[in-house]
Amino acid sequence: MKHETVLKEEAISYLNIKPNGIYIDGTLGGAGHSKLILDHLKNGFLYAFDQDDFAISYANDILKDYKNYKIIKSNFKHLKQKLEELGIDKIDGLLLDLGLSSFQIDDETRGFTYLKDTSLDMRMDQHQELTAEMILNTYEASELARIFFVYGEEKNSFKIAKRIVERRPLKTTMDLVKICDSVNYKEKGHSSKRVFQALRIAVNDELTVLETVLHDAVNMLNKDGRLVVITFHSLEDRIVKHFFRDESSTDIPKNLPIINKDLSDFEVITRKPVYPSEEEMNRNSRSKSAKLRALKRR
Ligand SMILES: C[S@@+](CC[C@H](N)C(=O)[O-])C[C@H]1O[C@@H](n2cnc3c(N)ncnc32)[C@H](O)[C@@H]1O
Repeated sequence: MKHETVLKEEAISYLNIKPNGIYIDGTLGGAGHSKLILDHLKNGFLYAFDQDDFAISYANDILKDYKNYKIIKSNFKHLKQKLEELGIDKIDGLLLDLGLSSFQIDDETRGFTYLKDTSLDMRMDQHQELTAEMILNTYEASELARIFFVYGEEKNSFKIAKRIVERRPLKTTMDLVKICDSVNYKEKGHSSKRVFQALRIAVNDELTVLETVLHDAVNMLNKDGRLVVITFHSLEDRIVKHFFRDESSTDIPKNLPIINKDLSDFEVITRKPVYPSEEEMNRNSRSKSAKLRALKRR
C-alpha cells in the first residue's frame, strides 16, 4: 500500500520555496513532500532525513530522476550535527510531517497496530535497542502508568499498568490488547488506542526529539526561512504551538506600543492551525487528525 501524503499543497505553499534555497525534509517517508520540494527547486538542494531502512530505499527509487538531493539516514534530532558535517549551517526551510508512514503501520512485523497480533516492537529505527516489549516487561508499574497517562492521556493508566505487571511476560500485541480490553471494557472506541500511542512515543522518545529539532532548526533559518510542521496528536501540536509562540513573542509589556525594532525575529504565519480540506479527509482518513503550523524568520 502506498503512503498518501498529507496536506501536500499546503505544506509546499507555507514553505514558500526559493528555487535556489536549501531545504530539509526531516521526515522523508514515502518521499511525497520531498518530490514536490524538488519540483520547485532549480539550483537549490534538499537534504532528507529518515531513520527507517524501508522508507529510505523506497524514497531513493521515487527520487531517482533528481540530482539535487541527499538522503541522511538518521534521527532528525541530529539534524544540526549532520548538516554541519556537510558544511551546512543555514537553511531556507524545514518540513516535518510527524509520525509514521502507512508502510510502517501496515507492516505487521513492526508492532505499531493493535489490530493485528504481532511482536511488541514499535521502533521507528530498527537498529535501536529499546522496544515496547522491553518497556512492558521491565519498567515498574508506576513508570508504565506515567507513560500511559502523560503520553496517552489514558485515564485508567494505573489499572492497566498494574495488570501488565501481574501478567508478565507479555509477548505479543494481543497480550496487551487483552489487558486493555479487560480494563477499558466500557470504551466505545478501541480500548488500546491510547496505550499504543503512549508506548510508541516512549519507545521513540518522540516528544524530546521534536523539541530538539525545533530549537536547532530555528537558529539555522535564513531571513524569510520557514519551519513547517504537520502533527497528528495533541501532545505534538502543543509542543509546536508553544515553541512558535515563544519564538515569536517579544518581552514588551502589553500596554506599550511596539515599534519595528522591538519585533521578534520570528512570526507565526498560521494564526490558527491549518487542517486538511474535507475532500482530503474523505479521501484519506489518516489526514483527519493532521494540523499544520508554520513559522517564518522575518
Ligand atoms: C508521516 S511519514 C512522512 C511521509 C512523507 N512526508 C511523505 O509525503 O511521504 C513520517 C516519516 O518520518 C520518519 N520519522 C519519524 N520520526 C523521525 C525522526 N525522529 N527522525 C527521522 N525520521 C523520523 C518515519 O520513519 C516516517 O518514515
